[in-house]
Formats: sequence, C-alpha cells, structure tokens
Amino acid sequence: MKNLELSERLLKLPPYLFAEIDRQKKELRDKNVKFIDLSIGDPDVYAPQSVIDNIYQAAKTKENQKYALDQGKELLRVNISQWFNKRFGVSLDPNREILPLIGSKEGLVHFPLAFVNKGDYVIIPSPGYPGYRGAAIFSGAKTYEMPLLEKNNFLPDLDKIPETVRNKAKIIYVNYPNNPTSMLAPFEFLKKLVEFCSKYGIILAYDNAYSEIYFEEKPKSIFEVPGAREIAIEFHSFSKTFCMTGFRVGWACGNENLVKGLLKVKTNVDSGIFGAIQDAAGIALNKETGYMEDMRRIFKERRDFFVKGIKGKIFKNVYADGTFYVWAKLPRKFKSSIEFSKYLIREKRIVATPGVGFGKYGEGFMRFALTVDTKILSEAINLL
Ligand SMILES: Cc1ncc(COP(=O)(O)O)c(C=O)c1O
Repeated sequence: MKNLELSERLLKLPPYLFAEIDRQKKELRDKNVKFIDLSIGDPDVYAPQSVIDNIYQAAKTKENQKYALDQGKELLRVNISQWFNKRFGVSLDPNREILPLIGSKEGLVHFPLAFVNKGDYVIIPSPGYPGYRGAAIFSGAKTYEMPLLEKNNFLPDLDKIPETVRNKAKIIYVNYPNNPTSMLAPFEFLKKLVEFCSKYGIILAYDNAYSEIYFEEKPKSIFEVPGAREIAIEFHSFSKTFCMTGFRVGWACGNENLVKGLLKVKTNVDSGIFGAIQDAAGIALNKETGYMEDMRRIFKERRDFFVKGIKGKIFKNVYADGTFYVWAKLPRKFKSSIEFSKYLIREKRIVATPGVGFGKYGEGFMRFALTVDTKILSEAINLL
C-alpha cells in the first residue's frame, strides 16, 4: 500500500552492509559453529563497580524516578566541567556550554537538525563512523565524502574540498582518535581545521568519543585550539571512556549557541536521561581516574600483542595508534574488503568489519576490534 512506503529520507540511507555480517554471524550461531568475533566496537571490560553500586542506590530516590531535566542535572554538568578542566585545561560553563546526551550518537545525529537547511552540505569523513551519514541525510543536507587516505596519514586534505562544497557547507564532522583508522590528529592539523572552519563559516562537530583510549600521545580537545570556541561543538562518550555502552550517556560541549541549538532539538525529541545514570556518570568522572589507566593498559597489551602477531604475516600495513581498533590493509590477492571478510568467516571463522562499510574510501582495509581478551586474540593470530 502506498501509505506504507518509507520516506525518501529513509530510502536515501545506504544499504546497511553490517546487516550481512550480522546475518552470517547468526547463521554460524544457529549451526553451533564456534567463531571469533572481532567486529564489535563494544568493550568486553566491565564498567566501574562504583558506577553499578551508585545506580542501584540512585534508582531508589523519587527524584530519579521522575522525568529528568532536558538540560541534564546540574551536578553532572559540574562534574563534566571539572573533569574537562583537569584533562584538557579548558574551562567550560556548566550552565551554558555543556549538554548531557543519551550517548554521543544521539547528539551527533540530532545536531544537524538544529542548523542545516535543505541544500546545505554536510561534510563527512570517509571512512567514518556511519552515524554522520544518517545525520546528514535526516537533516535534508547534501553529503560530501571527505577522503581519509593512507598517504595522508588518514587525515583529510582540506585544500581538496571543492569551493562549491566549502561555500555551501554548514557542518563538518571530524573524529580523532579515529574510528575506524585508529589515527590521532596532530595539533598542527587541528589548528588548520579550526582556521578552515572559521574562514568558510562551517560549524565543526568534533567527535572525541575515543579521547581516553590512547597509548602514547594524549589526544587533545578541539578547544585547546585558539578560536575553536567560536565555531565548534565537541562530543564525548561514557561508552568508550568507562566501557558503559549500554548505559547510554555522553555529552556535547562548547560554543553556547551550538549547544543551545542542540538542546532545542532534544527538548522536542526526548525527556532527559535517567537520573540514576546521570548520578553514576558523575561519580565515574570524579572518582575513576585509575579505571581509565587500567583500561588503557588492557587495550595497549592487546594492541601490541595483536599488531605484532599479524604484521608481516598476512598484513603489511597495520595501523593501531589509538582507540581499540586495528586498521589493516588487505593482502594483495583480495580485491575487496567484502570478499576478504567473507573469506575470513568461511575459512578462518573470524568475523571482522570490511572497510567499505565505513564509506567508499574505506575500501581496501579491514577493521579488527580488540574487544576480546589476548587468549582469543592469540587464537585469531594463529588462524590468520
Ligand atoms: C566515532 C564514534 N563516535 C560516536 C560513537 C557513539 O558512541 P555512543 O553513542 O555509545 O556514545 C561511536 C560508537 O561506536 C563511535 O565509534
């Protein structure tokens, strides 16, 4: 029936390549075939115990059983502001420059609804986190895929963005430490990025979801760059920082007008974050500095182990600078990342993510998630 047809908006979304992987995983499970899953960006490490204990207590109060404030609890905003200052040396006004989110994805995807008009461009990285593309399409924008190429250390070449796109671009999404390439952005690049956005009047949506998953150099906040506060909003996530993916909590911060615009969208969409989760998230930021160090130690050990195991064996070019992903260039004999992922499932019983699932410039690569322990990684290395 015509009335049941999906909207043009939904029909514009690209085919969900990961659905095919999910289907293959289900098939293996149904047949009771054992396989190693390196496809999921969901840490196996437990969330801090203090968070769990606090949620139980916090859930008992009547205040937390009611609708939450759209703007989030003041206490959580203060906790975020204090943590941000300690971590990045940047001071944010908890009342005007911080907005708690139901996970950073929620904010990243709703954000263009506040600022984009039909016909504007939204610039997205390719390869990149798939949420940006959906966000652009839902807002009615045209998307421009900005290539992150190996020869440029997976940084975008801003000078190559065509004039027509620059002049009509409303938002640019940038994400470092980067999913899926694992790369970090040098400070020089961040300065150039802020200059570029200021010159062309483009809003910078800086996705810093993996800011705490680093092994050598500490990632920066975009607000460490002079001038960024005029044009940028930055997104953070408790999902990766405290392995709290299922709790759904994150935050946006930065330019007051950008934060206000996003709040206006959210006020019309949701009714706040469960208060007990906000309380627990605040506790995590306040008390759990040791947790982050332990988590980094775990992921570094896995990263070193896995990279050493696969580099020079089947893969030549392997990248694993930050995040918990390893981005590996396909062996020459495979023509596409889909073909390689099918081969891995069929012949090795290993599930990993084909690079093309993150956009056309992800073709030629494979993403492995280090969200399993070294024993399982060791089995994977032996199979590869
Ligand atoms: C780059 C990036 N940004 C944002 C998110 C969303 O995280 P969450 O909504 O759990 O905070 C993810 C999740 O995988 C991601 O990889």
